Amino acid sequence: MSEPRKILVTSALPYANGSIHLGHMLEYIQTDMWVRFQKHRGNQCIYVCADDAHGSAIMLRAEKEGITPEQLIANVQAEHSADFADFLVDFDNFHSTHAEENRELSSQIYLKLRDAGHIATRSITQYFDPEKKMFLADRFIKGTCPKCGTEDQYGDNCEKCGATYAPTDLKDPKSAISGATPVLKDSQHFFFKLPDFQQMLQTWTRSGTLQDAVANKIAEWLDAGLQQWDISRDAPYFGFEIPDEPGKYFYVWLDAPIGYMASFKNLCNRTPELDFDAFWGKDSTAELYHFIGKDIVNFHALFWPAMLEGAGYRKPTGINVHGYLTVNGQKMSKSRGTFIKARTYLDHLSPEYLRYYYAAKLGRGVDDLDLNLEDFVQKVNSDLVGKVVNIASRCAGFINKGNAGVMVDTNAAPELTDAFLAAAPGIADAYEARDFARAMREIMGLADRANAWIADKAPWSLNKQEGKQDEVQAICATGVNLFRQLVIFLKPVLPLLAADAEAFLNVAPLTWNDHATLLANHQLNEFKPLMTRIDPVKVQAMTDASKEDLTASQTDTGAAAPAGNGELAKDPLSPEIEFDTFAAVDLRVALIVKAEHVEGADKLLRLTLDIGDETRNVFSGIKSAYPDPSKLDGRLTMMIANLKPRKMKFGISEGMVMAAGPGGEEIYLLSPDSGAKPGQRIK
Ligand code: 2FM
Ligand code: ZN
Repeated sequence: MSEPRKILVTSALPYANGSIHLGHMLEYIQTDMWVRFQKHRGNQCIYVCADDAHGSAIMLRAEKEGITPEQLIANVQAEHSADFADFLVDFDNFHSTHAEENRELSSQIYLKLRDAGHIATRSITQYFDPEKKMFLADRFIKGTCPKCGTEDQYGDNCEKCGATYAPTDLKDPKSAISGATPVLKDSQHFFFKLPDFQQMLQTWTRSGTLQDAVANKIAEWLDAGLQQWDISRDAPYFGFEIPDEPGKYFYVWLDAPIGYMASFKNLCNRTPELDFDAFWGKDSTAELYHFIGKDIVNFHALFWPAMLEGAGYRKPTGINVHGYLTVNGQKMSKSRGTFIKARTYLDHLSPEYLRYYYAAKLGRGVDDLDLNLEDFVQKVNSDLVGKVVNIASRCAGFINKGNAGVMVDTNAAPELTDAFLAAAPGIADAYEARDFARAMREIMGLADRANAWIADKAPWSLNKQEGKQDEVQAICATGVNLFRQLVIFLKPVLPLLAADAEAFLNVAPLTWNDHATLLANHQLNEFKPLMTRIDPVKVQAMTDASKEDLTASQTDTGAAAPAGNGELAKDPLSPEIEFDTFAAVDLRVALIVKAEHVEGADKLLRLTLDIGDETRNVFSGIKSAYPDPSKLDGRLTMMIANLKPRKMKFGISEGMVMAAGPGGEEIYLLSPDSGAKPGQRIK
């Protein structure tokens, strides 16, 4: 037997100003299943997390609710903890970044960085709200777009025309907090000199720590050159004051990842056998994994390892990145009732249904995962109730009635039990690689074989025949053993089902290695139904209730919550339009003759489009998804050809191409089927 591994695991720290929803849950369930698998295998695996409690959004929300930030984060922490516990997410510690351990570690790391020369200071000019007496982040400034004149736009980009600009370019700027006209003011800021770590990051990000797609993205940033990172904010700010710098606070993202360490430290402080340095010290041989969503890769794969390196700590073994959650093929939507809070789900459905569904769909990549609610009902009912639980319920009654609940010691299907044994290493490899979907496919393949074998043996028919009772007992004992194997394989995903199965099987808590043995001459307990089918009516009730949550939450904070873990910033209901309005739009197939960068533009590409009888010049904000524009050359897409030409900083844009997706790297240019010709109208 090899030595148990020492593993420390984290999930991203949820912001302490909002509820957990099913998008967040994807990450916590994914991590929890992996941690449970490691524990099941006998490794020492510790899973810590915390609420991410700092920042101006939390400060402003508390103020709006008339409570202190400390009260707000305590309330939210209680809510989050209950949601996680009820989804069977079993943290070894769930702490808060607003904690003494974190203050100490953040100060100490900062001082080490400062003393090693990795902190720079310089004055920057920013908008300042003279009424609230605070500097304003871009999202707290609104004004008129300098390009198209649309009012009420945020400080960094226009939602109408897509222009990006500095807040100082906005016309008639106003503070979104007080409504006052902001004034420009200088202030001294502190910067972490990330470029000092370029070499180290180049090596570290290519050393197997990241999935390929993530490493490629990071390589682009590294190639573009790293910038210094502003790690300070001025008072008033809810956070930790920077040592020796009164009135200056650590930016929330500085102390958030240190919160991983602080949560572990807090656990160590009350667990004598745990040694902090054995996990975080420079020479640690423990493994360290962070599970995160793809929106926060830069913080975890650039800033964080650089901070750790600079302060003399070990770096992560791996950053495990997942995609976003969509529901019914679309972003979660409040109006459609698919923006589902963890608690709303739990009010209607068992957590294990969702855990299984996520497992069945989660690969090791960064692709988005779709929770299709019809498929969810169908898959859970068919796999868990129809296949796994069915094996036990088919066999238990005969053993109970025919042999007083005692399993005989005859193995009626040695080939099948051997096949289950032989499948175990492959299933373990899939779990280890976080390819839960493969693990579930293999397990359900075994369940299918077990069911087919029982159906073929038909103990219910044999039982009616004279002299066949021994055979019936052998078949059913074998069936229960196969069921037990499946439970062992599924336990990281379905801990409640496993606990109920252990009670029925009358065994101690099962571990992975138990799959190598079979029960024989063994007394079972009474069989009780282990899982019921999902009633689609409950799913409907859950989405209805989520629409009601929308009405309740419309009075929530006005501060825009950062869109972490797939959370949507907004989802406006599209107003209905008349057919004539639609018909007036000239939609055409367009051939991209040339796609190129635009000097000085962060987001735009210049597209030269052939629409049959003419050539158009269109600026499109798709650069983030197509960093190499030449890849678009020669591709067909769709465009709105009769959009009034718009004068932009870089020239006139003569139409608009059509793309879908939330933004960033996830913008998908629409294409017609092959055969379409440039200039053809879309009907
Ligand atoms: O994006 C978010 O939701 C952040 N609260 C995650 C922080 S993770 C870690 F670095 F603390
Ligand atoms: Zn505009």
